[in-house]
Amino acid sequence: MKRLICLVLTLILLTGCGKTAPEQPEEENLIVVGISQVGAESDWRVANSESMKSVFTESRGYRMLFEDARQIQENQIIAVRRFIQQRVDYIVLMPLSETGWDSVLQEARDAGIPVILVDRMVDVEDDSLYAAHVGSDFYAQGRKAVTWIEREYCMRAGAVNIVHIQGTPGSTAQLGRTGALEEGLAAHENWNLLAQLDGDFTQAKTYEVMCRYLDELPPEQEIDVVYCENDNEAFGAIEALEKRGYRCGRDVNVICFDATRNALKLCMEGKIALAVECNPLLGPLVDDTIQSIEKGFTPQKHHYIEEQQFTSRNLTQEIIDGREY
Ligand code: AHR
Repeated sequence: MKRLICLVLTLILLTGCGKTAPEQPEEENLIVVGISQVGAESDWRVANSESMKSVFTESRGYRMLFEDARQIQENQIIAVRRFIQQRVDYIVLMPLSETGWDSVLQEARDAGIPVILVDRMVDVEDDSLYAAHVGSDFYAQGRKAVTWIEREYCMRAGAVNIVHIQGTPGSTAQLGRTGALEEGLAAHENWNLLAQLDGDFTQAKTYEVMCRYLDELPPEQEIDVVYCENDNEAFGAIEALEKRGYRCGRDVNVICFDATRNALKLCMEGKIALAVECNPLLGPLVDDTIQSIEKGFTPQKHHYIEEQQFTSRNLTQEIIDGREY
């Protein structure tokens, strides 16, 4: 796009027939970035979009085209094709799920537009179809949660009863976090998976599936752990549990991923036992990646952001107050 704008301006100037050359619009130098975001399903996602919007501004040398796919992969494919037609300089893609990207990424490559994957990954035959990936190691996050369960229940001889609420099926975040838990289940004979429910990373859906599940649960059945694959699922699960008289933090341990401010508050109160961080503030890293490509460097293929984990033991009010998301 930058190239096209320059060419058009040069032609206008050359064919100006002696007229005073108009001032070149600053837009000429802007790097045009097309961003295809998954949606706004979670607090994490909203913070992630905000991070992108705060970085890709005109004052920082960018023109941003932002498309929200409303949790539908087909909408993302349409958005990427539109960016290709618009001849953007870069495409930033937060892929909903891992599969189904080969053709459209090939089209972007054929058009000479570098694609930067953000947050989740794609499962493609040829990894040269994307220039770089910036995000989290979701499996490592899941391992942190599994290690916490191992430590918490290391003295338990009987069953450790686990309800698992999954995120959007086929997304890297779901696959990594589920993979770690399933390995934990396979490695511990007394870990008992009571149910695996789809919460789709949203509070509303989790509340609904959890209510239905609890209503059908025999009264004598205990639940030790509810492993929610993001904060918003934990909010929905806690609401459902509390409505039915469970005391979160006493009868049942709720685990979640993201560690946004609202989850940290519940963690401090003891209602969330463990919040594993997933950092949404990826805009600056994507900016660095684009700037390094602009300078002619080959960016690091995968950049995993460092993340922590929180319990009521290591949380402070200062950490919560300083949380940007
Ligand atoms: O891919 C990151 C995950 O997606 C976050 O954990 C979740 O909140 C979001 O919707």
